[in-house]
Amino acid sequence: MKMTVIGTGYLGATHAACMAELGHEVLGVDLDAAKVASLAEGIVPFYEPGLQELLRKQVDSGLLSFTTSFADAAAFADLHFVCVGTPQKHGSMAADLTYVDGAFEALAPLLTRAAVLVGKSTVPVGTASRLTQRVAGLAPAGSTFDLAWSPEFLREGFAVEDTLHPDRIVVGTTSPVVEAVLREVYAEPLAEGTPMLITSLPTAELVKVAANSFLATKISFINAMAEVCEAAGADVTQLAEAIGHDARIGHRFLGAGLGFGGGCLPKDIRAFMARAGELGVDQAVGFLREVDSVNMRRRTRVVELTHELLDDRLIGRRIAVLGAAFKPNSDDVRDSPALNVAGQLQLQGGQVTVYDPKALEPAKAAFPTLGYADDLASTVAGAEIVLLLTEWPEFVALDPDLLAAMVAAPVIIDARNALDPARWRAAGWTYRSMGR
Ligand code: UDX
Repeated sequence: MKMTVIGTGYLGATHAACMAELGHEVLGVDLDAAKVASLAEGIVPFYEPGLQELLRKQVDSGLLSFTTSFADAAAFADLHFVCVGTPQKHGSMAADLTYVDGAFEALAPLLTRAAVLVGKSTVPVGTASRLTQRVAGLAPAGSTFDLAWSPEFLREGFAVEDTLHPDRIVVGTTSPVVEAVLREVYAEPLAEGTPMLITSLPTAELVKVAANSFLATKISFINAMAEVCEAAGADVTQLAEAIGHDARIGHRFLGAGLGFGGGCLPKDIRAFMARAGELGVDQAVGFLREVDSVNMRRRTRVVELTHELLDDRLIGRRIAVLGAAFKPNSDDVRDSPALNVAGQLQLQGGQVTVYDPKALEPAKAAFPTLGYADDLASTVAGAEIVLLLTEWPEFVALDPDLLAAMVAAPVIIDARNALDPARWRAAGWTYRSMGR
């Protein structure tokens, strides 16, 4: 099938490459000429495992190309996926819909043939129906289109796998045409047994924010338990292990530590609260405010622990920060808990040096005033405390004896509960973690 993918960020670039991998002819569209030029050369401008190889393969195969032109997009295909970002609006908890509105508004006047428009961006409930009116008003007289919403559930770090083998496909539409088209698009995953759920537009929009709210709540639940464990002298990792054996609870997303960040969970729960307020049901999601607060308190807790371990004398002390990405296997630093902690400590007078295997350049762009090092050895050289803030495998595999010989003082905060406390203590480290 021929299709366009509008917006080529983490979601769109992955979607475009994966659609080509499924055998479709894909045109990726983005207003950012530099991004389009890079993608057209087969170079992914961010780090996502497996995507680079896939993009190169599909650009070379001729199935995947890129453009900055909406006219090209409208001429190329009658199926359009919209994958642009919906960041948090400045000065508000709500989502900024500038890019989503812009994409549909740019495409609408160019729809000279019957078209299927499928939004994939995470949007406040009601957006799809509003956009249907908007596109109808802008489309040429007599043209027909169907506008559907199909939220995307991919995780960064597993984006290719999640797109090629999704655990479910949700489509908000009342049109049998859209359902038939998307069944053809996703023929391969459907043949593998992936369920496709057809819902109304508002249900599809809500599925996405409900899923992310649940995940955020699960993480904040265990982090709230970590606070209690700290006060009571209990161990939250053992507690999580024990409650997770109840199949109704499960072990996944019960990792207590520094909490969630990234380009999705934080802004999605806030946008959901803002939208629920507009709908007059803010009480229904009032608990998300607490979820957000518990999450932010974890960052403060690591800053406090650092003060405590440095005897409340932070100014000029050398702090090695391991990790800048919001989670391992990603170079995404949007709302990164690691950089938040690093920034707070630096602003309070600490001499902070940050190292990350993949996210150094994005981190420098976002927080240019922090100190950075290009390798682990120079990061920890002379450090009076080491903070493990993103659990990259290479940090988790660190040898406590070797590291002890490199630092000025063997003091570590394992903010992701990723290390073995007994082993680190046996190697002479003052070891602190979260809720243990
Ligand atoms: C999330 C959703 O998982 C995905 O379905 C949606 O499409 C986009 O948002 P992502 O932001 O890529 O995906 O990351 P995810 O793996 O969900 O992790 C989010 C954050 O939670 C990370 O900062 C991670 O470190 C943290 N986390 C996760 C925990 O603190 N504890 C856990 O047990 C799990």
